[in-house]
Amino acid sequence: MKKSNIYFLLFVFGLLLNACTYDFIAEEELPPVDPTVTISFSTQIIPIFDAKCIACHKPGGTAPDLTATNAYNSIKNMNLANTTAPETSLIYTYPNPTSTMHTWKKYSAAEAQLVLTWIQQGAKNN
Ligand code: HEC
Repeated sequence: MKKSNIYFLLFVFGLLLNACTYDFIAEEELPPVDPTVTISFSTQIIPIFDAKCIACHKPGGTAPDLTATNAYNSIKNMNLANTTAPETSLIYTYPNPTSTMHTWKKYSAAEAQLVLTWIQQGAKNN
């Protein structure tokens, strides 16, 4: 076999290896959300708002106010969580990574999944 062919094979093999590794990491980023385990609004949802949303959604800023003390009431009062049709909830759809709206900021796929599960579990202030 010609030397250049060996290099080519190594190159292809390297690509394959890379592809596998990449898939594996992407898989791992997907949420291990177990719908039978209760999501806590205060310890799992609020931290997402803190990290990604309150720069704009704060008292005196753009509604809804998503700061820790006001987030639950804002979501309730603005009807952003629909427990009868969770997938239509604005708090889930609006900053969803697959949505074309709200280009300001998006959830990661894992965060969106957490928010959806929280709504499916009744959108509780827990
Ligand atoms: C850079 C500023 C900014 C950030 C950060 C931001 N938003 Fe927004 N958001 C806006 C603005 C401005 C609007 C109103 C205009 C629009 O509808 O896009 C809005 C609208 C919304 C609405 C619709 C409210 C309604 O009246 O129906 C929701 C829900 C929302 N944001 C959720 C979030 C969530 C959740 C996060 C964090 C993941 C977030 N936003 C981060 C600026 C921001």
